[in-house]
Amino acid sequence: MADLNDADPAKLAAARAAVALVEDGMKLGLGTGSTASVMVQVLAERVKAEGLRLRCAATSQATADLATSLGLSIETLDQIGRLDMTIDGADEIDPDLNLIKGGGGAHLREKIVASSSDRMVVIADGGKVVERLGLFHLPVEVLEFGLQGTTARIKAALDEIGLDGRPILLRKRDDQPFITDEGNLILDLSLEAIPDAALVNRTLNALPGVVENGLFIGLCDQAFVGRDDGTVVEL
Ligand code: 5RP
Repeated sequence: MADLNDADPAKLAAARAAVALVEDGMKLGLGTGSTASVMVQVLAERVKAEGLRLRCAATSQATADLATSLGLSIETLDQIGRLDMTIDGADEIDPDLNLIKGGGGAHLREKIVASSSDRMVVIADGGKVVERLGLFHLPVEVLEFGLQGTTARIKAALDEIGLDGRPILLRKRDDQPFITDEGNLILDLSLEAIPDAALVNRTLNALPGVVENGLFIGLCDQAFVGRDDGTVVEL
């Protein structure tokens, strides 16, 4: 377990700002990724110091394992039901608080958990803030079954909305296809710029074989962006 003293100061500052919103008795969604991991550590510290009683659902097995190892108890989303707040990281945040997520391959569960929350709070360092989404690859979780056909449908659908010729790569880890917590694959789309994120979101999710894409439209309520000097900007 990494020591919080060694944590990236921007991520730590953002995590502390979000965890300050947590109140006793809350039902929380815990995000995935390096920033969310710092947040889980900060949260565990507060729970220990203040004896907070929380109910938590995790957006990935990795987060569930980390939280459990730090003494937080994790329940399934169905056991908890509606959540008060989810705190998660992001790969890109635009001025309207629309996001690209899924750099860690957890965007399917992350979107379900965020959609089950009254409030989604994003934590990030300044490198994640963009004027327009799309420079970061857009992760799309797909079924392994019929992968070639699904890839062709995605390409054709992108062509139709003017995003033609964009590279689509099967995500790999250690030279093997990356497998998500749900046992699916991820295609990373290099779109460069997404002029209409809602249209891309709708278009991709309508295709057979697509499980979920990493665009979070209208889900994020608040973002804390940390800086290296430990200060935080709220978006
Ligand atoms: C995982 C995610 C992460 O929140 C996103 O990739 C940001 O990760 P990090 O905090 O490590 O930069 O969406 O699926």
